Amino acid sequence: MSQTYAIQTLNAISPIGLQRLDRDVFDIGTDIAQPRGILLRSADLHSAEIPESLYAVARAGAGTNNIPVDAMAARGIPVFNTPGANANAVKELVIAGMLLAARNLYHAADYTRGLVAERSLTGADLDQQVEAGKKQFAGYELPGRTLGVIGLGAIGVLVANAAQSLGLRVLGYDPAITVERAWQLSPNIEQVTSVEELFARSDMITLHVPLIEATKGLVDAERIATMPAGGVVLNFARGGVVDEAAVLEALDSGHLHAYVNDFPSEAGSVHPKVIALPHLGASTGEAEDNCAVMAADQLSDYLLHGNIRNS
Ligand code: MLT
Repeated sequence: MSQTYAIQTLNAISPIGLQRLDRDVFDIGTDIAQPRGILLRSADLHSAEIPESLYAVARAGAGTNNIPVDAMAARGIPVFNTPGANANAVKELVIAGMLLAARNLYHAADYTRGLVAERSLTGADLDQQVEAGKKQFAGYELPGRTLGVIGLGAIGVLVANAAQSLGLRVLGYDPAITVERAWQLSPNIEQVTSVEELFARSDMITLHVPLIEATKGLVDAERIATMPAGGVVLNFARGGVVDEAAVLEALDSGHLHAYVNDFPSEAGSVHPKVIALPHLGASTGEAEDNCAVMAADQLSDYLLHGNIRNS
């Protein structure tokens, strides 16, 4: 008789991923007490007890900062993640965020809703306010502007390529890869050798790095001050990569034009120049399916065969 492996799911995992796990071999559920494997998305394991029975954890997502990776490693428990599986979804949202900011779409949509819903304007009154809105929310175009991409992993490279196709000049910074590798991944990207240079030369900056000691508060007051006036910061990485107080101050002074933030906080979410999103970067059906499939495959390959594909 074959052995059954218990897998605990701590978040809703896309069914297409769960279907990869043969039900004759895997017992899957949310209420499993002694799991051999854990499959999760955003559940925070930092204060959870690590069950004695646990052999492996798989996250349907790229970041692993909701998992105590060091504690798991000390117990010999691999933590799998799914780099690249949601990269296209994030890339599309970064491009959308750049356009939202450049064309003031977020405020313009609020303005129009306000005219019709709150002020009940119709006919000539509405036309007049529409004309006023056209002037107030006039934006700028992307070609010829410079985008700085910090982190040239799966997402950063897709963003760099998409931005180039929109006519942006792209600077990249990633101390972990060589200039040759960056060139192979994204021809025409100009890789700079210091984060300071990237800030000083970028009209827009987008972050694609994990939250680790070296990246905490990477976007700070000093670096923001060196950006050309009217800059935009896009954060689809993690909240802690940005010193939010410094960003809010730069938005207030007018030095920054907008902050597109996928990790809203109390102060940041209500600021009129912040476009705050509820961690939507990877939230498409396609990305959720891709992540679930990759995470489930890695987990089953390890539990059944001891293979480590990526951890
Ligand atoms: C990631 O790390 O890839 C994202 O946080 C995934 C998610 O939205 O759950």
